[in-house]
Order: sequence, then structure tokens, then C-alpha cells
Amino acid sequence: MAFRIAPSILSADFARLGEEVRAVAAAGADLVHFDVMDNHYVPNLTVGPLVCAALKPISKLPLDVHLMVRPVDRIIPDFAKAGASIISFHPEASEHVDRTIGLIKENGCKAGLVLNPATPLSFLDHTLEKLDLVLLMSVNPGFGGQQFIPSVLPKIAEVRKRIDKLGRDIWLEVDGGIKTDNIAEVAKAGADTFVAGSAIFGSKDYAATIQQMRAKLGVL
Ligand code: DX5
Ligand code: ZN
Repeated sequence: MAFRIAPSILSADFARLGEEVRAVAAAGADLVHFDVMDNHYVPNLTVGPLVCAALKPISKLPLDVHLMVRPVDRIIPDFAKAGASIISFHPEASEHVDRTIGLIKENGCKAGLVLNPATPLSFLDHTLEKLDLVLLMSVNPGFGGQQFIPSVLPKIAEVRKRIDKLGRDIWLEVDGGIKTDNIAEVAKAGADTFVAGSAIFGSKDYAATIQQMRAKLGVL
């Protein structure tokens, strides 16, 4: 299985955002996770398409845009134009989930659906075959640096089963509280893509932290 590590810039130094993205790219990251918050769907406010467009030329890494905004449809074309590779959204933030998935794809991006810790997997019942990525939240969205919620582990295993049954290359990403000491357990449950904000940007040596994460994944 291919594993991917996606540093979340939410925990980066926002005064030096370009340098931070360059640093994680040099440190061996696979994706740049870009958290968009609106102070409405979640109680925090971050960055939008302008910042996404500014970061696009900084590295070759795909931009993994995680939208925590409601409504969501209006802003999707803007992120596609700003260079997003993947756009993920929360079903609670969309009036018409199937339409939003279609809109992301029409705009040339890969589509992801994000499920909060208490959001049921039934949202995947009629959507999974259209998705490129399922993002399971292992914290409640809104802030970096929160504790991993262990009850998401069986949920990861269940989604892994559904993806394998379907037999399509759908990424299974987990977001929130991922550290070097729990990444192996999350991988064992079935995840292949790992968002890590504070664990990477809060460390002194980004490359060493990413290497430690890969080492933990390698010993599975
Ligand atoms: C939370 C965000 C996460 C956050 C993860 O709403 O979606 O991407 O940055 O941060 P850590 O890895 O510190 O839990
Ligand atoms: Zn995120």
C-alpha cells in the first residue's frame, strides 16, 4: 500500500507561509493539506483561494484543500482556479451532496467527502463510487493540536472494507491528532493518507519527523 503524508499548514507559521510550504516539500511531504475555515460551519477562520493561488507555484506538491465552509458550492470554482488538486467538503455543509461532488469534478479536481467523528458512514452509501477520497476526521474540525479520538479507528476499518469491496483507487485520509506514536495504528486500521499539522510544524526538524512517520509505516 502506498502511504501519503500531508502536512496541514494550519500549524505553520503564517507570517512565513511560502517558506513553510517549501520546507515541508523539501522534507518529503506528499501533499500540502490546506484547511479552509469560515467562522460559521466551524468556529475558526483561516485562508481562502487567494492564499491557495499564492502557494501553488511554491512547490510541485498537490494541494489537498479541506473545505470547512457553508455554503460550499459557490467557492469551489475559485479553489479549482487557485490550483487545488483535491477538494473535500463536509456533507453537512452542502444542500445537495451529489451535486457538490459533480461540481468539484467538473472543475477538474479530485473530489473528497469529509466525515466528522459523529457523522455516520451512511453518507457514503450513494456517493462512494463517485469519490476520489474519503477523509475521516479524528478530531472535531476547527483547530489544530487536538487529541486523536480513538473511536474513529473502527470507522476507518469499515471504510477500508467498503473501498476494497468496490475495488476502486479511493484514498482513505485521516485528519486530526496524528503523531509519530499513533500513525501505525491508524494505518493498520486501513488509512493510506495522513494529515499531520502540529506533529510536523510543531517539530524542530520537519524531515526527521516525516521520516519517523514513514519508518513507523514501514514496520507494519
Ligand atoms: C482541523 C483540521 C486539521 C488540523 C490537524 O479542523 O482539519 O487538518 O490542521 O491538526 P493536527 O494534526 O494538529 O491535529
Ligand atoms: Zn484538515
